[in-house]
Amino acid sequence: MASERLKDRTYLITGASGCLGGVAARTLSLEGATVVLMGRNIKKLESVYDALEAAGAPKPAIYPLDLEGAQEADYGTLANRLQESLGGLDGIIHCAADLGHLSPLSGIDGDRWQRLLKINLLGPILLTQALLPLIQRSAGSVVFFGDSAVGEGKAFWGAYGVAKVALAGYARILSAENESAKILSLVFTPGPIRSPIRLKAYPGEALQGLKNPEDIQEALLKITLNPSS
Ligand SMILES: NC(=O)c1ccc[n+]([C@@H]2O[C@H](COP(=O)([O-])OP(=O)(O)OC[C@H]3O[C@@H](n4cnc5c(N)ncnc54)[C@H](OP(=O)(O)O)[C@@H]3O)[C@@H](O)[C@H]2O)c1
Repeated sequence: MASERLKDRTYLITGASGCLGGVAARTLSLEGATVVLMGRNIKKLESVYDALEAAGAPKPAIYPLDLEGAQEADYGTLANRLQESLGGLDGIIHCAADLGHLSPLSGIDGDRWQRLLKINLLGPILLTQALLPLIQRSAGSVVFFGDSAVGEGKAFWGAYGVAKVALAGYARILSAENESAKILSLVFTPGPIRSPIRLKAYPGEALQGLKNPEDIQEALLKITLNPSS
């Protein structure tokens, strides 16, 4: 392992089967953290798990959960399980996201709004809310992956864009309300990365101008080690 600056800390990573979620899992666990790999596809999560074990990282955990189908009670169950089996939680890294399709807002029907807002906004909020007591006990952090392409609200980013803008507001309010508990909640914006979401949004884009997924490691580690900096 690189070093053990996150030894004895535990982080839950949503979208851990994805490109940046997988990088986040590797980054934190190679610094000694125990990571809980959350996602909806067990096979993909198992392959992340195997790679971490092979790299000598602390034994990770897998927690399958589909943000589209999850109910409030499921997040409560998760909180209990984390407390019982891992003794608490130091942070959440919210990487899961579903882009849907780029389109004008008027082209999104009710079912699509509900589905995409559940995955990209309501799910992350309910998950955070359920785990907040654990994070309060560890004066931990909550990190939401933002998207610079969406900015503060650019055209055609649809329900995904609406969710990213709303999550940034949620992160600010959460931090403000938990200042005295020393909980930090912030948005981490990785920039344009060569990954499935980017390729779906910009199918014809030249790949040379994009950063590699691993390029986020240093910045992500920095905010995990010292979220207030
Ligand atoms: N790549 C970029 O340029 C870029 C730029 C800015 C921000 N970001 C942000 O970075 C984060 C990670 O993006 P990425 O590039 O790593 O994308 P990715 O590889 O497509 O990963 C997305 C992850 O979300 C999971 N997910 C999707 N729907 C889900 C659901 N219903 N329930 C649970 N998990 C679900 C996916 O699971 P499956 O593996 O099962 O599909 C996957 O693990 C996202 O929040 C994205 O907005 C990316």
